[in-house]
Amino acid sequence: MHIPVLFSETIAALGIRPGGRYVDGTLGRAGHARGIAEKGGTVLGIDRDDAAIAAVEAAPHAGIVAVKGNHGDLAAIARAHGWDEVDGVLLDLGVSSPQLDEAERGFSFMRPGPLDMRMDRTQGTSAADLVNTLGRDELAGIIAELGEEPKARQVADAIVRERAKRLFSSTVELAECVERAIGRHGAHHPATRTFLALRMKVNDELGELERALAGGLEILKAGGRMAVITFESMTDRMVKQFFARHVGREVSLQQGGSRWEGVRPRMRLVNRKAIRAAASETGANPRARSAKLRAAIREEI
Ligand SMILES: C[S@@+](CC[C@H](N)C(=O)[O-])C[C@H]1O[C@@H](n2cnc3c(N)ncnc32)[C@H](O)[C@@H]1O
Repeated sequence: MHIPVLFSETIAALGIRPGGRYVDGTLGRAGHARGIAEKGGTVLGIDRDDAAIAAVEAAPHAGIVAVKGNHGDLAAIARAHGWDEVDGVLLDLGVSSPQLDEAERGFSFMRPGPLDMRMDRTQGTSAADLVNTLGRDELAGIIAELGEEPKARQVADAIVRERAKRLFSSTVELAECVERAIGRHGAHHPATRTFLALRMKVNDELGELERALAGGLEILKAGGRMAVITFESMTDRMVKQFFARHVGREVSLQQGGSRWEGVRPRMRLVNRKAIRAAASETGANPRARSAKLRAAIREEI
């Protein structure tokens, strides 16, 4: 089961137009896509996970087409389906509940499974490949940068020590190694940040997001909207900065008046601040606690 996060807020932020075309770059179990279709929009839903595509195809919904692909290629995929211009783009980033819940996908440090973490299991490098082969400095850099783990060097040292004895193959081996290295502190499992960093690296989540934002804006009509839900500070920052560059700012001129400075195409924020889930939602769905929704509208020029 995957409960869509910030569901009504996202549908409202996208301002669905009946007959409009919407690209959902993170189709998952089509929770948000169904909401769009029920308001009269047509959805081209992209997911890189075969299991997500198969699940949506097994329960077809009018107005939703599921396509296996990477949202980094969002603009090219839309154009290949004859969609040169769209009314909206949605990204609900990160992993889905079914991905986390299935031990064999290797996303969860709480479930014993192979240390995989690839969203698309038909290609790419697994998390086990990374921890077993990368140099100590590179590992520490990834864990520090993508996981924002303050004890990244200690974690990397422990991984390198441990793999000299035996290569990592399971989630639990890595989780226990991290716990031994940095101990338990706070409410979260000590391996939380390390697992996040590896997942982001394995799936090049920052690179794909950058390409998805640029590609989405490229095919967005004037008046069309982009909505992005993030779950980590790293990806939220990227979305916030991308929107800020396109929203630009009015700079006062010496001779009077003002001039807009920013990156074209120009955008306007739907909400000044990120939208967070209400207590009623976080109570029912803990995943929503860290969710942030940002949305912006493409301007005429
Ligand atoms: C949080 S879930 C989306 C859930 C969906 N909004 C729903 O309500 O059912 C994120 C989904 O995006 C997919 N995904 C993540 N990165 C992707 C990428 N670069 N390209 C395509 N799909 C991606 C994952 O496989 C996962 O199914």
